[in-house]
This record gives sequence, C-alpha cells and structure tokens, in this order.
Amino acid sequence: MSQESKPNKAGQEVYGPRDTLFQRRMVRRSAEKQAGFLLSHLQPGMTLLDCGCGPGSITIGLAKIIAPGAVTGIDVDPGEIERARQLAAAQGAGNVQFQTGNVYALPFADGTFDAAFSNALLDHLSDPIAALREMRRVLKADGVLGVRTADRDGYLMAPAHPLLDKFGEWGEKRKNAQGVHVRIGKNLRAMLRAAGFARTEGSASYDCYGSADEVRGLAESLVDRLHAELRRSRSAADAESNQAELEAMIAAHRAWGESPDAFFAMSFCEGIGWCSE
Ligand SMILES: C[S@@+](CC[C@H](N)C(=O)[O-])C[C@H]1O[C@@H](n2cnc3c(N)ncnc32)[C@H](O)[C@@H]1O
Repeated sequence: MSQESKPNKAGQEVYGPRDTLFQRRMVRRSAEKQAGFLLSHLQPGMTLLDCGCGPGSITIGLAKIIAPGAVTGIDVDPGEIERARQLAAAQGAGNVQFQTGNVYALPFADGTFDAAFSNALLDHLSDPIAALREMRRVLKADGVLGVRTADRDGYLMAPAHPLLDKFGEWGEKRKNAQGVHVRIGKNLRAMLRAAGFARTEGSASYDCYGSADEVRGLAESLVDRLHAELRRSRSAADAESNQAELEAMIAAHRAWGESPDAFFAMSFCEGIGWCSE
C-alpha cells in the first residue's frame, strides 16, 4: 500500500507508513495490557481470531492465555504477518498461526471461532461497522468479541506546543479525507449493536508514554513520519514555506522528546459484544 490518498472505499483505506519506528514499537504491546478488558471472558481451550494483528505480540499473548486452544491472527499486510510468524517462532508459541487477510472479507466460514479480538484497527477503517459485522459472522452463536480502538477526544499531551497539535490535526484531516474517523471509540457500544451484537459493554483505558525512553521513542517515531512528509514535500516541489514548517515541526517534536516533563497518553475505548443474550 502506498502512503498517498486513495478513493474513500471500504477495504482501500491507506493504513499509513510501513516499517516506521512506531510500527516497530508496536511489538511492545501485550495481551495483559491491550486485551485486559476481555481476559475474564476467555477460557483455556477456546478458539480466537485477532483481526489486524500487526506484529503479533498481543496475539501470541492471547494464545498463551487460551492454550491449548488455538489463536489465528490476520492482517492485510503480508509484511506484518511475516514479522508475527517470526515472533511466534522466537517465543516457541505453537498454538498460534498467522495469515494474510482482510477484516472486511475474513477467509473463514460462518461460526468458526469462540472469540474474536481487535486492537487499534477500527480507527483505521472507513466502514468499521462492516468490519464488526464480518467479525460477528465468523463467531459461534455464543461467541464474544472484544474491540479496542483509539479516540482522539481523550488524548493528553504535555508540555503543549502548537506545532505538536498541528501535526496531530494534519493526520486527522488526512484520515478524514479517506473517510476514516479517529474519534469513534466512544461509539463502540452503538457500533457493536448496529453490527448485530445482542449484548454489549464498554470501558476505556490509556496507552501511556511517561518515561524518558518512552517519550523519546514516541518523538522519534513522529519525527520519522515528519521526515517522510518532508521528503514527499521536497520531491513534489511544494511551497518552501511548507518545508520550513515541517522542519520547525521536526525541531519541536525532537525538543518535546528530550523534555524531562514530556508525557503523552492515548485514550482507547473498549467494547465487548456478545452474539447472544
Ligand atoms: C495500529 S496496527 C495494530 C496492530 C495490532 N493490533 C497491535 O495493536 O499491535 C493496525 C493493523 O491493522 C492492519 N489493517 C489495516 N486495515 C486492515 C484490514 N482491512 N484488514 C486487516 N488488517 C488491517 C494494519 O496492516 C496494521 O497492522
């Protein structure tokens, strides 16, 4: 997939730059933290599908929790699937498999899984309800789904800086232009109901960047993205003022990443949907 805008059509959204520092840091995510809201509804021996599994660290954690049950992770990006397979092999996780697949058209028969999960996927999709409906299709009649998705309305960042805000706003505008909305997390219960789930529950949690290493790592990821944008702007021969602003943003993010006071908390909403009452 390229980084350029494509038509606003479900299944053709542009997920974003690949192999960035941010992507590589996702491997730190865990089942305990990112799927914690769902764990009390899982049992050993279940079968589970993780949609948009990315590098697979959460998926592998879920496999350990429901062993000897089997977990399948799917992702539209073959590169992520390869990374996830390597991670599973390195950790000796035998009850997990990964395959390329699109959440809008899952390659499984109706009623295949006891449980499904997804973290940080819906806020990258232009038709999240269609994706939820498809996840429900592959669940058994008494199946359960746990979804966690960011909602920009709750983001917290200190110290504040107008250029940091501006970069966030750019990202949101670009996604809006693709029909993707990053403030939908709070509507998860309604979305689950619209997708046909009989009973739902909602909760929320934060992914925090609060140590020197974490804020520096996050800032490096954002600087990485800004550099990509600067390269694009230069090769497109955009106005020089645009490049100057990008350079100023890079400096502001670097300074933020080195600040001993820097803190960022990313709000995620969590929804559980049961196929039957
Ligand atoms: C922000 S990452 C989250 C990865 C993982 N769930 C985690 O939290 O570590 C979103 C993932 O969704 C995948 N993705 C985007 N659109 C998808 C689609 N239509 N079907 C399946 N996966 C998709 C991307 O390739 C990416 O790996």
